[in-house]
Amino acid sequence: MPIEQTLSMIKPDGVKRGLIGEVIGRFEKAGLKIRAMKMLHLSLNQARAFYAVHKERPFFDSLTQFMSSGPIVALILEGDNAIQVNRDLMGATDYRKAAPGTIRADFAKEIEANIVHGSDAVETAQVEIAFFFNALERV
Ligand code: CMP
Repeated sequence: MPIEQTLSMIKPDGVKRGLIGEVIGRFEKAGLKIRAMKMLHLSLNQARAFYAVHKERPFFDSLTQFMSSGPIVALILEGDNAIQVNRDLMGATDYRKAAPGTIRADFAKEIEANIVHGSDAVETAQVEIAFFFNALERV
């Protein structure tokens, strides 16, 4: 399995609901290493830039308002097959379709406020990691 890095975000709903430790604990128990981590509050423009790939989607304005509504935690996770491992931990985007025991099945209450984000491919992970972390912030 390739060693990969992936970008994770604990979204404003996850932070507000006190789920930072729960989510990070799941990452660590699954063998993912935390290579960088920060808490920050995205502006609306920053959220729009991060999710630019979705700019034509009907949920874009609502999603970016939600993502700039409170602090988030951004992390670089590393490990064997880290992108898929993280996606398996998160579960499907729609919490109603997420497998039992996944983060979204256990905690999400809306498709938009779904606790976590994770990169979906190697190329996306590189772009998303560079969005949040410069070279000095990565160990
Ligand atoms: P995420 O994995 O961060 O990627 C895009 C986000 O858009 C997704 O999680 C959800 O928060 C949100 N999203 C995706 N589909 C919908 C939808 N149909 N309605 C509202 N929000 C959505």
